[in-house]
Amino acid sequence: MKKVQLTETVLRDANQSLMATRLPYADYADILPEMDKAGYYSVECWGGATFDSCLRYLGEDPWERLRNLRKNLPNTRLQMLLRGQNLLGYKHYHDDVVEKFVELSIKNGIDIIRIFDALNDFRNIKTALEATKKYATKRTIASGCISYTQSPVHTVEKYVSMCKELKSMGFETICLKDMAGTMSPFEAESLIKGIKDAVGNMPLILHTHCTTGMAYMTVMKAIDSGVDVVDTATSCFSNGTSQPATETMFYALQQYGIKTGLNEDVINKVNDYFKPIKQKYVDSGLINPKSMATDAQALVYKVPGGMLSNMIANLKDMKAMDKFDAALAEIPSVRKDLGYPPLVTPLSQMVGNQAVVNVLMGERYKQISTEVKNYFKGEYGIAPAPVNLELQAKIIGEGNEPVDCRIEDSKRTGQEFKDAKKALGDLARSEEDLMSYICYPGQTETFLKERKAKEENIAKYSIEEA
Ligand code: CO
Repeated sequence: MKKVQLTETVLRDANQSLMATRLPYADYADILPEMDKAGYYSVECWGGATFDSCLRYLGEDPWERLRNLRKNLPNTRLQMLLRGQNLLGYKHYHDDVVEKFVELSIKNGIDIIRIFDALNDFRNIKTALEATKKYATKRTIASGCISYTQSPVHTVEKYVSMCKELKSMGFETICLKDMAGTMSPFEAESLIKGIKDAVGNMPLILHTHCTTGMAYMTVMKAIDSGVDVVDTATSCFSNGTSQPATETMFYALQQYGIKTGLNEDVINKVNDYFKPIKQKYVDSGLINPKSMATDAQALVYKVPGGMLSNMIANLKDMKAMDKFDAALAEIPSVRKDLGYPPLVTPLSQMVGNQAVVNVLMGERYKQISTEVKNYFKGEYGIAPAPVNLELQAKIIGEGNEPVDCRIEDSKRTGQEFKDAKKALGDLARSEEDLMSYICYPGQTETFLKERKAKEENIAKYSIEEA
């Protein structure tokens, strides 16, 4: 019997896509023992924006959250999303920082590390992969992830060769990550058949979003074409900018005789549990009705929904909505000049903003943002296709070469750890505290100070009561 497994995303990507990652651990703690019986391929619950959100908005220690997840989901694979050399942020960290982060993630309970780079520059995921292998337990899986995008240079052949490379690097599974939800059923079919032919029995995972309304069709076609795992979210946290619904996929696949290994009762209970939680955040306004709707604009304009709304907001701010069509038309040219980067954060914003500036100034690249300059300097990695050399020369100077960010950055100095220790003093009690500080210094310092103040308060009260 054919088998397709599902990864439940409610705790990470659904939470991130629908409600800006503001779901506190306390909201879902009680359902974890039930979720543990569901039979998911994995539960995506950590990484991505959850780390930042814990420290910045929720007053939670992300590591403690992970340990609690581990304790309450003992039989389930815990999955995280990691942005390669950027870890969970947007800058490149030194190799020793990346290695320690991976070590601590596994030590605190992560089983599957899904590792990607926004530009698919695989040099940027190598250190994280090696660290995953080094600290792997029996349960650990290193999953190599491709940022999916459409452009004249992103052909099936190109994706197939990327998958071969991920396999030869030593990844155990491959994930196709369609952030914008623009992969069509037709594209899924040719892509997945091509990849399966090339990498044989290596498990293939599809991650997409319902944003454009395409996801269910694409997922079904992907399953038809041989995909092994798909990402879904419990139904009340599905659709819109989130993933397709877990229970819906279960019912559809069951009729085809495709085994998911899911327990029907349990997945329904999970949804019942999350319904009032979702309602609470709809009522508070944290879940915006817009994020729950289908918006096919991304298919029409070939840019992700978030990028489009960002651009419209910018133009409205500048009272220049009359330039909207011109700015839209400028996007493909800017993208071409940059060597067709996948339109994901932060590249989508960079391309969108530069297109707007080019149109508003009435002259292309009269003004160039710092981010775009850094991109041409090579700080983000290698572009998928050759960049506009004239523009590159204008930015980095005639005859200069872009820097190799990976080699520049791969020194192991231990400096970040020394700096963190010095800055935090007795506020830091663990390697995890230091790591939080290295990733998000401001937020971590505030969080650790509050933790200390809270404890001193508790101590004071217990003395008074005694
Ligand atoms: Co996603």
